[in-house]
Amino acid sequence: MKASSKAVKFAAARPLVVTIGLGALVSIGACTAPAADENAEVAIDPAANASVERGRQIVLHHGCGDCHGGFANPDSPIWMAGVMGPLQEFAVPLDFMNPSFAYPLDESDPSYFVTRPRNITPDDETGIGRFTERQIFNSLRYGLRPEETPDVEISSTVPGEGNFPPVPRYLAPPMPWTAFRHMPDQDLWDIAAYLKRGVRPVSNEVLESEGPPDFWASFYADPMVGFGSYPAPPFPTEKETRTP
Ligand code: HEC
Repeated sequence: MKASSKAVKFAAARPLVVTIGLGALVSIGACTAPAADENAEVAIDPAANASVERGRQIVLHHGCGDCHGGFANPDSPIWMAGVMGPLQEFAVPLDFMNPSFAYPLDESDPSYFVTRPRNITPDDETGIGRFTERQIFNSLRYGLRPEETPDVEISSTVPGEGNFPPVPRYLAPPMPWTAFRHMPDQDLWDIAAYLKRGVRPVSNEVLESEGPPDFWASFYADPMVGFGSYPAPPFPTEKETRTP
């Protein structure tokens, strides 16, 4: 998505608001996994375990860690822990196709928003611990913030139709949900299983992303950005043929 590459450039070129500084980095060193009784017998369900392991693989090769922390190193202390410093934040201009857009961005310019990859470790207070695997699945399939998705199967992709929220709070760009939602159901379930059951919780409060009042709905509806449809239109579309 164009917005993401530009946004990355902005963020890298010009450090933005420092949300959580060194304090957070230091304190996560002290963060430990919940105490486990080492002598307890744990019954491991092989099917559930396989789902967690497949989810890990998908998370690794989809670059979730590039934004959510730890790049492709699941042993990183900041693995999936969300924004810890300014280089993990993005500046997303609403009107990013405007040729008169000035670089570098003017900090007082109201036409862009700072967005922040969230903590997606299963910490109950600051991460996705309080959401069900169904809510995480819904979040990735429909681009909704997990707390905004009902904990049931969603029956439509149209706001207000069926049980799709009438005023959806879409996940802010550059979270690539418009791409991820095309993964097969099982892949999304596996990601949810891994995030909930395969990752150590890290306590790291990430500031809310900024956004326009319609929670990015018209941004994604812009034909230059595009939700695309789900499922995707049949191949080939007009733009996929070699002869016009
Ligand atoms: C290019 C950066 C980027 C990548 C890559 C990325 N994310 Fe995100 N993600 C974000 C941003 C930014 C948000 C915050 C959106 C918001 O605040 O509305 C987010 C939010 C989320 C949320 C919602 C969490 C919450 O509590 O609201 C989930 C779940 C999530 N991402 C999962 C993933 C997974 C799984 C992957 C890999 C398959 C991934 N993300 C890859 C940027 C990214």
